[in-house]
Amino acid sequence: MKNKIADHTFTLTNNATGESWELPVLSGTVGPDVIDIRKLYADTGHFTYDPGYTSTGSCQSDITYIDGDKGELLYRGYRIEELAVNSDYLETCYILIYGDLPTQEQLDTFRRRITYHTMLHEQLLSFYRGFRRDSHPMAIMVGVVGALSAFYHDSLDITNPKHRFIASTRLIAKMPTIAANAYRYSLGMPFVYPRNDLTYAENFLYMMFSNPCEEYKVNPVLTRAMDRILILHADHEQNASTSTVRIAGSSGANPFACIAAGIACLWGPAHGGANEAVLTMLEEIGTKDRIPEFIARAKDKNDPFRLMGFGHRVYKNFDPRARVMHQTAREVFEELGVTHDPLLELAVELEKIALEDPYFVEKKLYPNVDFYSGIIFRAMGIPTSMFTVLFAMARTVGWVAQWNEMIEDPQQKIGRPRQLYTGHPERIYEPIENRG
Ligand code: SDX
Repeated sequence: MKNKIADHTFTLTNNATGESWELPVLSGTVGPDVIDIRKLYADTGHFTYDPGYTSTGSCQSDITYIDGDKGELLYRGYRIEELAVNSDYLETCYILIYGDLPTQEQLDTFRRRITYHTMLHEQLLSFYRGFRRDSHPMAIMVGVVGALSAFYHDSLDITNPKHRFIASTRLIAKMPTIAANAYRYSLGMPFVYPRNDLTYAENFLYMMFSNPCEEYKVNPVLTRAMDRILILHADHEQNASTSTVRIAGSSGANPFACIAAGIACLWGPAHGGANEAVLTMLEEIGTKDRIPEFIARAKDKNDPFRLMGFGHRVYKNFDPRARVMHQTAREVFEELGVTHDPLLELAVELEKIALEDPYFVEKKLYPNVDFYSGIIFRAMGIPTSMFTVLFAMARTVGWVAQWNEMIEDPQQKIGRPRQLYTGHPERIYEPIENRG
């Protein structure tokens, strides 16, 4: 859908010169209007200044909408809570990419297409052997996904819709295989080939945990939980890693390089790396009696420590994904017969104390998607270092959908922000013999 010119404008006045300008306002479907400043520099000779882009829209998009005050998240208009219960990950991928619910035939065709692209080029498997066994799997993901552009020369022309189609398919299809191989490599276990008779989440858990010496059946409850977690992580508007993919794509870089850039950005502990950081934090806290000590540290401006899994740039209410994740944690523990998980109990107590603390209440800091996901992954036998890998695997469809939308948007051009320069004005180069 396209933006509409609003019926009002903003007047900008330079009080020093008395000049003023009318800035157009654009309206979307729901959510805040935007002030169109595309002509601001040409008209006023001034840039805007917005480090971290807290008030800046980088694009228009039809894909995902977040209402941070209400704690709402919509994928193509469908509430995340509904999709998490009623849909599955591949249907959600279809919705994010094509924009609407698929018919049964459309969904079957899409599933088949993804299923038949899950294998990797055999030569790519030797790429893993260049890494140390104890390499962080996110380092392997960045390397192997970027290396896909060395193997698939038939899908690098981003101006060709057919190339974009096959590259998008390959990225969504191959991420579970690439991710599971990173885990197997760290253990010295043989890679397991994907199976075409398994669903997406089931295939991933099979490639992660099956043993080639005996029959392996994936627990259906864990499959369902994994599939739901993938849905919750699939897209999230213009977050840091999605913006990284968009800006990389705006230069015309190939899709594999763009997604590798997104994976690199997601790795940061302030972003997707938080799920790993939450587990590390909970293990450091250890017992409930130490929670006040860490809450105090999180509030101390002189201490760089932040409560991992808490806070969000957009959500100033509960992250709806955290609620579904908390419910999923309980289902997984029940299925696994885990009646007493000290880390889950610690997390629930930490959440309770934090949400009652005036600092967190005043700053509207709530648990985000990363707060409970690590606890579930750990209960499923997934090592902490793999948590962000799973986030990257799930978010690949969002990155791909946003990348395609950016390329097809006639308003888009290469991303190139400006700056406020505070360095030296021009000065003379002194030969070294004249320097003090
Ligand atoms: C993800 O953008 C997305 O959509 C991301 C994501 C997605 O799906 O793509 O949702 C995934 O990245 C979730 C966030 C995971 N990160 C963490 O859990 C790390 C801990 N959280 C913080 O680092 C922080 O909350 C951020 C990075 C998430 C948000 O930072 P902002 O928007 O820049 O907010 P801020 O740093 O300006 O914080 C506002 C205030 C500050 O205090 P003041 O300077 O106003 O006094 O709140 C404080 C912050 O110090 N604050 C925290 C805090 N988060 C913010 N204080 C203690 N603990 C925290 N976790």
